[in-house]
Amino acid sequence: MDVREFRAGDGVAVRAFWEASGIRIRPGDDDRSLAAFAERNPGLFLLAFDDQGLAATALGGWDGRRGWLYHVAVRADERRHGLGGRLVRTIEQRLRERGCPKVNLIVWNDNAAAMEFWKANGYTRATTVEFEKEL
Ligand SMILES: CC(C)(COP(=O)(O)OP(=O)(O)OC[C@H]1O[C@@H](n2cnc3c(N)ncnc32)[C@H](O)[C@@H]1OP(=O)(O)O)[C@@H](O)C(=O)NCCC(=O)NCCS
Repeated sequence: MDVREFRAGDGVAVRAFWEASGIRIRPGDDDRSLAAFAERNPGLFLLAFDDQGLAATALGGWDGRRGWLYHVAVRADERRHGLGGRLVRTIEQRLRERGCPKVNLIVWNDNAAAMEFWKANGYTRATTVEFEKEL
């Protein structure tokens, strides 16, 4: 498995991968936003490849107060082999090294498998409610 950072030109492939993984494409997933995210978060926007192509993605963000995880996804035939957990731990370690004390993430409330995955990785369900607004 070859893990590298997002590069300009990866946008079409990662969006197709996310759609195939059941991840909704949302504001912030266009090429310009992904490139800006990668630039602001060096070492945290990870893509894993095997001989079949893109096998997993994981985006870590650090805003100076909180770490954030987005779009952790593993190709269906590679699931339950530890790849998702490995990428998450890599990002957590890099966030720790930047001084990040806490990581947040959002799970859609119909995604029971993802909730199990996050629990298995030491995450606890928050009691907060998300609010949002498109600009
Ligand atoms: C969630 C996802 C990223 C997990 O990736 P993965 O590489 O399969 O996860 P891991 O192999 O590291 O799993 C670690 C542990 O998490 C738990 N887990 C993972 N997937 C699970 C599932 N479908 N059901 C129950 N528990 C699960 C298990 O405890 C697992 O350990 P085990 O296999 O020894 O039992 C993957 O299922 C996926 O891409 N799902 C679609 C996209 C998605 O929903 N992403 C999350 C958005 S919040």
